[in-house]
Amino acid sequence: MPSLASSLSDCVSAAAARLGMADLAPQIRRSEHADFQSDGVLAAARARRRNPREIAAEVVARLSADGRVAAAQVAGPGFVNLDLTDGALLAQLTDRLTDPRLGVGTPEAGVTTVVDYSQPNIAKEMHVGHLRSTIIGDALVRVLEHLGGTVVRRNHIGDWGTQFGMLIQHQVEHPEPTAPQDAGTMRRLATLYRRARADFDADPAFADRARRRVVALQAGDPATVAAWRDIVAESTRYFTEVYDRLGVRLTDADSVGESAYNTALPGLADELERRRVAVTSDGALCVFFDDLRGPDGEPTPLIVRKSDGGFGYAATDLAALRQRVGELHADRLLYVVDARQARHFRMVFDTARRAGWLPPTVPAVHVAFGTVLGPDGRPFKTRAGDTVRLVDLLTEAVDRARDVVAAKNPELAGEALDERARQVGTGAVKYADLANNRVRDYTYDPQRMLALTGNTGVYLQYAHARVRSILARAEGVEATVDPTVGLEPAERALILDLDAFADTLAEVAAGYEPHRLCGYLYRLAQTFTTFYERCPVLRTTGTRRGNRLALCRLTGDTLRTGLHLLGIDAPEQL
Ligand code: ARG
Repeated sequence: MPSLASSLSDCVSAAAARLGMADLAPQIRRSEHADFQSDGVLAAARARRRNPREIAAEVVARLSADGRVAAAQVAGPGFVNLDLTDGALLAQLTDRLTDPRLGVGTPEAGVTTVVDYSQPNIAKEMHVGHLRSTIIGDALVRVLEHLGGTVVRRNHIGDWGTQFGMLIQHQVEHPEPTAPQDAGTMRRLATLYRRARADFDADPAFADRARRRVVALQAGDPATVAAWRDIVAESTRYFTEVYDRLGVRLTDADSVGESAYNTALPGLADELERRRVAVTSDGALCVFFDDLRGPDGEPTPLIVRKSDGGFGYAATDLAALRQRVGELHADRLLYVVDARQARHFRMVFDTARRAGWLPPTVPAVHVAFGTVLGPDGRPFKTRAGDTVRLVDLLTEAVDRARDVVAAKNPELAGEALDERARQVGTGAVKYADLANNRVRDYTYDPQRMLALTGNTGVYLQYAHARVRSILARAEGVEATVDPTVGLEPAERALILDLDAFADTLAEVAAGYEPHRLCGYLYRLAQTFTTFYERCPVLRTTGTRRGNRLALCRLTGDTLRTGLHLLGIDAPEQL
């Protein structure tokens, strides 16, 4: 059964069509003055140079004949206010209760989306930027899959580049281990990276040997390739651990690093040249764009092949894109990457369109996100000025969460407390990230994100656990709906909020905006609180109690499903 808003939208459309205005877009939304309002008459009337209030009155007359409409009224310059009957609301509630999908359809069925996300770099720590990509990407994957879509996850790991020359060369020259090869900390690789970089910068002879090592790696020298593979494997084990801690859906099978496209690059460059998409400029193979210029007015090209013959980030992305469309048959490409890479993706997508690798029917979207800021309002760094390690953030959040949970639950201890702390701590980190419009920067504030009130993950986990405890106390009482019982305003508000779940998910998918789901769940939890304050559930009796329990159950299920789609656990108790 469609949502109330969408069936009202159909009603208004039908009424408008009968008035000869088939183009009218109803624009149904919730209203302060009624259950819903329709704003579409204004634009339609303006286009016809007619009085909007007159047209609205005609629409109202048609709508009043609909049995589910309790009242329809013209408001303001030509809005239509709509109230539904209690019976219509209760019928909707009944329908949702028996539907395990909570009214959510499968509009993504038959659509294949390739989502490029997380994308850490080998031999380097994952930082907050990778955290954002991982969390946002994972939420989008979950929502698209829940809407019936086929999703291919691609972890475009940075596993290729000249830095491997210095890493491998340093390892060869200093075979004694620098630190224990402990995947949990990645200390060995971090130390290796630091020392190799220092020697590379300080010692020209070492830098030369490192460069020769790059050539050996690219030429496939077996010992060098084996060393590279070991470094990749060590990092990958570490990434997998982080993904497990975060509870995201990425697996080894989703990792297709930049190196995977190596063999495709020369052919790709030839093809771009042959099709005259790319031209040689100062020895480099470049793609130019009319509207992309640097501050000096000179055009900024996408460099497909450097003048030394090497391929970089751009070529790899083009090869990956071509493969995703050509072989994986993507209907849509998403790249969950820092907003600072906007120009890169614009150039890559443009190039691919010109080359014919990205048909007009396949959208390619840079799902950009802003920067995580520290307390000083500047990009988040440690006091020493280093990037903040993602694992340190998680550890801190889980430790703080343990205090919050223990304060509420003195009897919880040991593994149960640890598990609860993990659910609450990682949930808080994820929610704090997802709740913001992704393109905006946000300030990382571990104290605020674990507040029990306000728009936080913990608040929603509590709201969910509270509903479950009400239901547990009502054991044995049937949550069946009696459609003849009149509704209180707080009950109406809750039914209307619950009914908007499917439409909210559609909005999330349309704009790749998980924060819309966060905002929805937060409002739902608040509406539930008001309902629970005004309408006794366990202390009331008879069919009224059945109806209210039904509302509790649907609220609990909706909160849990919503949190899961954000990648956040919803424990039964907190
Ligand atoms: N590894 C890159 C980084 O850490 C991000 C890669 C983004 N994905 C892509 N297909 N270019 O900045």
